Amino acid sequence: MAMVTVAKSSEISNGKMIGVEAEGRKILIARVGGTLYAIDAVCSHMGGELPKGRLESDVVVCPRHGAQYNVKTGKLVKDVGFAAKALTVGKGAHDQQAFQVVEEGDDVKVEIPQKD
Ligand code: FES
Repeated sequence: MAMVTVAKSSEISNGKMIGVEAEGRKILIARVGGTLYAIDAVCSHMGGELPKGRLESDVVVCPRHGAQYNVKTGKLVKDVGFAAKALTVGKGAHDQQAFQVVEEGDDVKVEIPQKD
């Protein structure tokens, strides 16, 4: 595991999210209720960029087909609708990976698992 500095705390105000890259991975970092959370930024459905979506409380909505994920856990909250599934050959979304994130001073650090 590697702790990687990815942003400054002051860049992410409450209720906001940003996209960062670390160790070749795209990661979404959101601040909810004053606490930072980090999940995989690439939508499990068809690769939509979650940082370009909407953050509604602790749920991020994918800008492409509307899948919804809890940013605290990465869990899928709402799958894509029937029409989006039909258009994407039956593919549905699934949970996103969540990462440990800490603030040290003004640094935001994310724990990135090593690739096999
Ligand atoms: S790419 Fe995210 S919902 Fe389809």
